[in-house]
Amino acid sequence: MAKMEVKTSLLDNMIGVGDMVLLEPLNEETFINNLKKRFDHNEIYTYIGSVVVSVNPYRSLPIYSPEKVEDYRNRNFYELSPHIFALSDEAYRSLRDQDKDQCILITGESGAGKTEASKLVMSYVAAVCGKGAEVNQVKEQLLQSNPVLEAFGNAKTVRNDNSSRFGKYMDIEFDFKGDPLGGVISNYLLEKSRVVKQPRGERNFHVFYQLLSGASEELLNKLKLERDFSRYNYLSLDSAKVNGVDDAANFRTVRNAMQIVGFMDHEAESVLEVVAAVLKLGNIEFKPESRVNGLDESKIKDKNELKEICELTGIDQSVLERAFSFRTVEAKQEKVSTTLNVAQAYYARDALAKNLYSRLFSWLVNRINESIKAQTKVRKKVMGVLDIYGFEIFEDNSFEQFIINYCNEKLQQIFIELTLKEEQEEYIREDIEWTHIDYFNNAIICDLIENNTNGILAMLDEECLRPGTVTDETFLEKLNQVCATHQHFESRMSKCSRFLNDTSLPHSCFRIQHYAGKVLYQVEGFVDKNNDLLYRDLSQAMWKAGHTLIKSLFPEGNPAKINLKRPPTAGSQFKASVATLMKNLQTKNPNYIRCIKPNDKKAAHIFNEALVCHQIRYLGLLENVRVRRAGYAFRQAYEPCLERYKMLCKQTWPHWKGPARAGVEVLFNELEIPVEEYSFGRSKIFIRNPRTLFKLEDLRKQRLEDLATLIQKIYRGWKCRTHFLLMRKSQIVIAAWYRRYAQQKRYQQIKSSALVIQSYIRGWKARKILRELKHQKRCEEAATTIAAYWHGTQARRELKRLKEEARRKHAVAVIWAYWLGLKVRREYRKFFRANAGKKIYEFTIQRIVQKYFLEMKNKMPSLSPIDKNWPSRPYLFLDSTHKELKRIFHLWRCKKYRDQFTDQKKLIYEEKLEASELFKDKKALYPSSVGQPFQGAYLEINKNPKYKKLKDAIEEKIIIAEVVNKINRANGKSTSRIFLLTNNNLLLADQKSGQIKSEVPLVDVTKVSMSSQNDGFFAIHLKEGSEAASKGDFLFSSEHLIEMATKLYRTTLSQTKQKLNIEISDEFLVQFRQDKVCVKFIQGNQKNGSVPTCKRKNNRLLEVAVP
Ligand SMILES: Nc1ncnc2c1ncn2[C@@H]1O[C@H](COP(=O)(O)OP(=O)(O)OP(=O)(O)O)[C@@H](O)[C@H]1O
Ligand SMILES: [Mg+2]
Repeated sequence: MAKMEVKTSLLDNMIGVGDMVLLEPLNEETFINNLKKRFDHNEIYTYIGSVVVSVNPYRSLPIYSPEKVEDYRNRNFYELSPHIFALSDEAYRSLRDQDKDQCILITGESGAGKTEASKLVMSYVAAVCGKGAEVNQVKEQLLQSNPVLEAFGNAKTVRNDNSSRFGKYMDIEFDFKGDPLGGVISNYLLEKSRVVKQPRGERNFHVFYQLLSGASEELLNKLKLERDFSRYNYLSLDSAKVNGVDDAANFRTVRNAMQIVGFMDHEAESVLEVVAAVLKLGNIEFKPESRVNGLDESKIKDKNELKEICELTGIDQSVLERAFSFRTVEAKQEKVSTTLNVAQAYYARDALAKNLYSRLFSWLVNRINESIKAQTKVRKKVMGVLDIYGFEIFEDNSFEQFIINYCNEKLQQIFIELTLKEEQEEYIREDIEWTHIDYFNNAIICDLIENNTNGILAMLDEECLRPGTVTDETFLEKLNQVCATHQHFESRMSKCSRFLNDTSLPHSCFRIQHYAGKVLYQVEGFVDKNNDLLYRDLSQAMWKAGHTLIKSLFPEGNPAKINLKRPPTAGSQFKASVATLMKNLQTKNPNYIRCIKPNDKKAAHIFNEALVCHQIRYLGLLENVRVRRAGYAFRQAYEPCLERYKMLCKQTWPHWKGPARAGVEVLFNELEIPVEEYSFGRSKIFIRNPRTLFKLEDLRKQRLEDLATLIQKIYRGWKCRTHFLLMRKSQIVIAAWYRRYAQQKRYQQIKSSALVIQSYIRGWKARKILRELKHQKRCEEAATTIAAYWHGTQARRELKRLKEEARRKHAVAVIWAYWLGLKVRREYRKFFRANAGKKIYEFTIQRIVQKYFLEMKNKMPSLSPIDKNWPSRPYLFLDSTHKELKRIFHLWRCKKYRDQFTDQKKLIYEEKLEASELFKDKKALYPSSVGQPFQGAYLEINKNPKYKKLKDAIEEKIIIAEVVNKINRANGKSTSRIFLLTNNNLLLADQKSGQIKSEVPLVDVTKVSMSSQNDGFFAIHLKEGSEAASKGDFLFSSEHLIEMATKLYRTTLSQTKQKLNIEISDEFLVQFRQDKVCVKFIQGNQKNGSVPTCKRKNNRLLEVAVP
């Protein structure tokens, strides 16, 4: 979403007043109260016109975030609440867009926040200016120069833990687009005395502590240092540690920054070596040694430290040692060498240390400049940032304070000049009449200090150069003479007797009434410090060093370039650099940041009014406000003015069509603002008194409230109306919908009722029609039925009539027949009696026989010969015929049955028939044999290899081959024998071996005996006297007795043509050898199962028990 531009103003939500110009009434008290009020509300910035007054909050405030940067970016100065970013933005934009070089002058006393402010300005500019890899590198280098310079140039003091001990002016250079190209840094007067001595509660420069805390062991060894601070005389011990400061971490930051800025590794190392050398110099101590000429000569106590320094710096030890003991003065080609006493030796040592360090610092600045200088030769736009030490008023003020205050005096002058100039220029630009402004011009003080003929600095230089004994006292005397009449110079001993009795003014001091207050300077040390003397022997010794950096720091030590002219004094050097700076600043558009320190405790939330009052005074801030509002307190371009106040007048509200200026004129006329209160410039309205502005603001506020009420009213009205309209619309819609719904419902009801009625009517109608139709149909049916009945009746009547007629005809015929019969019978009665009876009888018999045969034909039994069925006989007289018929039919069907037989089957049946003839009803065993087919060869001799011999022995056809039990003649026990019947013989063989036991020719068999019972015993009787009969008759038992006997009978018959005698009796005689034995069949018990048992009872009896 695009950010909506809201036109705001500094005047919105002001705490106190954001611009002191608007302060009413204006006096010190209201000024301080306003600052305090704002400070208490975290508003640390307040404007005086375009000057930013900044009160150090001593705590981090959330007002420097990237969002804040965005807020202030491209906004007008007075649009938002006062901020350092607003000033930075204004400066950057007029540099970029209007091609005006800028300078930002940051002043204030130590700890007031100058350095922080300068960093904020730089970071803001870095954030808003162009981007890109190259540009970013330049920005980064510019920003990273700060940590390096702070490490070497800042120290903890009682006023500030990170006090800048040098003045710094940095030119940031931009191209036409506003992208940074590079920068140039100038440094002013490093407080080098700090290197050798620090006041109580203060520290040496940060870098010493950072090096000892942060360097690795390896680096420390290399630099021949020890981590212990107490080892070094130049380091104050009581405040070696600063709360909230991590020296070790800072050391890493510094090394990193050096790398970013572009220091080569060996350069960084050289720098640290010089730092180490300075630190170690402080440890060189001297002792007096008497010489022959009675003078004391200093000697180095412990040469170890010196040796290490020389190793570190590559200086010949003897050269350095000598430089600490002798001093060579050259005058007019004459070299005079004098020995140094202990005090002089210490002085020389300290002077060397201070020079070494301060020259190193200057070298660092130059080295940084080399890195950050713009690489192009195109025209550059410049923004200078000056962070210089503020006005200093201590108890003991010395040469340094004098110099510093001189610088501030110059800055004040330029401030006044430029402010007035700017103010005047604006008046001219805006075509407003310039009114003279009374203000204190400090040019006179500057003149007292810097005047080339009788200025204090000139006096000092003169004194320093003067031959003869020169002391601080002689210098003071000179001042007393020359400056006695100057109204800002005060001294007890001056010719002017004004201060003779001023006890606050010691004899060895002089006092200057600076613009910011009176400062008492101790004259002691002025000459020395101004001389800034370093014995030539020392600088020459340094020049001889193998260490390139150190050598380059002391070019005057080069004997080839011996310059007998004294080097410029510190005072004149400073004066010259201040003059250059002033010249530089005058060409630029100044922007001021006035830093104020709220308390001495470095604490947040404490606002020490006395302290602030003092600062306000010496910064001349009230003066500043007065100058600013001498003519017109407030000015504003027409457009924003009209925009802000247009609601106060009907003509201009809500839109003014014409030019803004005309609008403002109309507006002011309408508001009846007295004409003397304002003036119309070319582009701005100038308002004389803040009162007028506040009146406008009050009116605006009131009007805004009214407008808000109006807007509210209209809005509420609109809202209510809209709501009402919406309700009405909704109501109409609802009503319409409801009506529609109700009508629809009603319609539906009517429709459904109509449908019901309709359906009823239709139903009724239909039923009526149906009824009618049914009625009609019934009528038709009734007619049909009636007709049918009628026709039926008719038909029946006709039928009856016809039947009657037919019956009558039949009756007539019968009667006629009867009558005819009667007539015939009467006529033929005489014949009928003799023949008719017989004929009728024959006819009847014939009919009956005919009927019998026809029925018989239908009732014929099946063709099976064993079927016993035969229809019954109808009449008795047919009995014989009936039987005969039965017999004939049976014979016929038997024949038919027989005709189907094959020869083989015929043979079987013949045998069966034979058996039947022989045994039927004679032997109880017979019926069981009827169903058994006669197989004859039960024992298959051919197939069994066991009987091969037996088979071979028999040539004839075997009729019976069966195993039988041969009853032992002696005991009645049985043995298995193969019974073979051939055509001519009967053979018995051993069952196991197949060996023939007996062979009986059939002709020798006379009889076969058997019982009538259900047993298989039989006896074969042999012809007496035959060969076979030697052992006697055979007694066997066999399951196939019937078959065997039958076959034996048939074979004997066919072979011998004699019928074999078969005796069936339960008692018969057999011939066993000589004995005739009776075989008796008795009814045996069931104990032995169903098998008959045989027992020889005695010689004469053999009993067979048949179950
Ligand atoms: N805007 C600020 N926000 C928060 N703290 C600040 C701000 N300005 C200054 N300070 C605090 O005050 C301390 C002193 O500020 P700074 O070093 O800028 O003072 P100075 O004016 O440069 O002093 P000197 O003249 O001794 O160098 C800072 O270290 C910081 O703690
Ligand atoms: Mg500072």
